[in-house]
Formats: sequence, C-alpha cells, structure tokens
Amino acid sequence: MRNIRTKNNVDLSVEIAGIKMKNPVLAASGAFGYGTEYLPLVSPALFGAVITKTVTLLPRAGNVPPRIYETPMGMLNSIGLANVGVHRFLEEKLPELLSHHPLVIVNIAGNTMEEYAELAGMLNGQPGISAIELNISCPNVKQGGMAFGADPIQAVKLTTLVKKATSKPLIVKLSPNVSDIAAIARAVEQAGADALSLINTLYGMAIDIERQKPVLGNVTGGLSGPAIKPVALYNVFKTSRAVNIPVIGLGGIMTAGDAVEFMLAGAAAVQIGTAGFINPNTVKEIVNGLKDYCLKKKYPEVSQITGKLAV
Ligand SMILES: Cc1cc2nc3c(=O)[nH]c(=O)nc-3n(C[C@H](O)[C@H](O)[C@H](O)COP(=O)(O)O)c2cc1C
Repeated sequence: MRNIRTKNNVDLSVEIAGIKMKNPVLAASGAFGYGTEYLPLVSPALFGAVITKTVTLLPRAGNVPPRIYETPMGMLNSIGLANVGVHRFLEEKLPELLSHHPLVIVNIAGNTMEEYAELAGMLNGQPGISAIELNISCPNVKQGGMAFGADPIQAVKLTTLVKKATSKPLIVKLSPNVSDIAAIARAVEQAGADALSLINTLYGMAIDIERQKPVLGNVTGGLSGPAIKPVALYNVFKTSRAVNIPVIGLGGIMTAGDAVEFMLAGAAAVQIGTAGFINPNTVKEIVNGLKDYCLKKKYPEVSQITGKLAV
C-alpha cells in the first residue's frame, strides 16, 4: 500500500488557521477580481481557496487612470482598492463566487480602524466566508492600508479590534515597505492573527520621458511580479522563522519551482497574483508541478516541504 501511495498519490491538502484546503495554491487578492471574471479562462475551483479583491464599507472608484503599467520584470498598479462596497459584494459577488468555490477568504480594508472592525463584524454573520484577510499593506491609498501596517503599535491595535469583531480565522497581509517585517509579524501574532500573508506590492514608479510626467495617474504604484520574487522570498524566510503561525507566501510566483522555493523558505501555502494575468493556466501548472516535485522527492504530503530549506 505504501508503494502505491508514494508512486501515484501525493496529499496536496494543507490546513491553515483551521481551514483545510485541497491544495496550497490560492488566488491572491485583487489579481483574480471577485473570482468569477476569469470563468471563461480559469475555474476558481482549481485553487485551494480564493481570496477576493479588497472589499471596503462603501464602494470605491479607485485612483485616476492610467492605473496599470508593464515593466520589464513585473507590473506597476495603482488601482487604489476600487470595489463595489460590502453591500453589493454580499448581495451579488459572494453568492456567485461561492457557487464555484466553497472556500472564500474575503480581503478587507478601511479608512479607519473602526471601519475595519465594522466590516469584520458584518462578514462574521456570513456562513459562506471561511476567513478574513486584513489588508494593512496597500501602498496605493492615502488612508488606512499601509498607515496601519507600517507601525507595530497601530498594527496591534487594529488586529486586536478586528479579532474582537469576528470569530472567523484572521489572516493579516503584510507589506515589505517597512524596515522590519518580522517585528510587525510578531506584533500581529501576539494580537491574535491566525496566519499571515506576505508580501503585498513594493512602492514603485515609471516616468514617461516624452511628456516628462509619471506614467501612472496616481504618480506612484505597487510593483508586483517576477521583479519582487527575491524580496518576497527573503521576507517569507525571515518572517516564518520569527512567528509560530502559518505564513502564506506570495510575490512573483510564476511557476511550480517558485512555489516550491516559497514553501522551502517557510510558507505553508502560496498565492498567485500577477502570473494569472500572463498565463491563466498558472494555477493548474503549479498544482501539477507541486505534485511532481513531491513525487520526485518522495514526500507523501506537500505540507512536508514547508520550511525544509537547509541553511
Ligand atoms: C492589479 C492588482 C491589484 C491588486 N489589488 C489588491 C487588493 O485589492 N488587495 C490586496 O491585498 N492586494 C492587492 N494586490 C496585491 C497582490 O495581492 C499581491 O500581494 C502582489 O501583487 C504580489 O504578488 P504577485 O507578484 O504574485 O502579483 C493587487 C495586485 C495587482 C497586480
């Protein structure tokens, strides 16, 4: 029996913050919309879980265009958390997404800490939502976002407040745009975070030399994609060694090999963002590639790769 298992079967499931996922490949917030826009190209059901675009209390129009710019090794975006607001999200978007995937994690942000807590409270009553991901790391908004994620004291206050407002597992998404990400990670762990996602985008900009103006309407944006992978990997490595809660890694993951690197560095799962814009088949390729890697290295369970890096 053992032979059959190691030859053909790999258990790809992982458990994060009490949520059992069929595989460790998640859709990253913002890159997969509300999960259904991509239906003609890729099924939400392929992912271990889908993390929604950030939802805020009131609808948001986002920043002035242009809001996307392609760089040689990645993408700059300054979307500014454009979304339909929590009421329309619950009425229209969530039911459709849930009809395709039972594991939905809702990413939230607010202008104030009270707004974050109010949102978390509203979502708590929704049985279809598996967890909340707290976005304290968006570089493209003036209020909220990074303002709470860059300072351990603010991050603790916010995490404590949101934790009180919800009984759902709480995942806190961290920014690399800080001097010590591990300090923020430890602080939010102590405040009750059940898991961490990292990293959000890095500050960046592009200039149109003919017009002598910034390319993005918002002047600056967030850099994602292959350019940020080494930074993300380092942050996952550093943070996963500083905390006892699971770390979900993301930032420039394009291939199964990238996903393995993040897991070896300490990630319990990974998220796919920019890669999905280039190749909608990425999720399938990464899930299959993880299985092949486990078979080759003789791991019966993918979770056994996590933190295996020899240093
Ligand atoms: C177009 C775009 C929109 C994004 N919107 C959000 C968002 O609404 N909330 C959030 O937490 N992260 C958002 N992100 C950040 C991604 O979730 C991810 O943290 C980042 O892009 C790094 O991963 P990647 O290199 O795989 O894309 C967005 C990224 C992109 C490219």
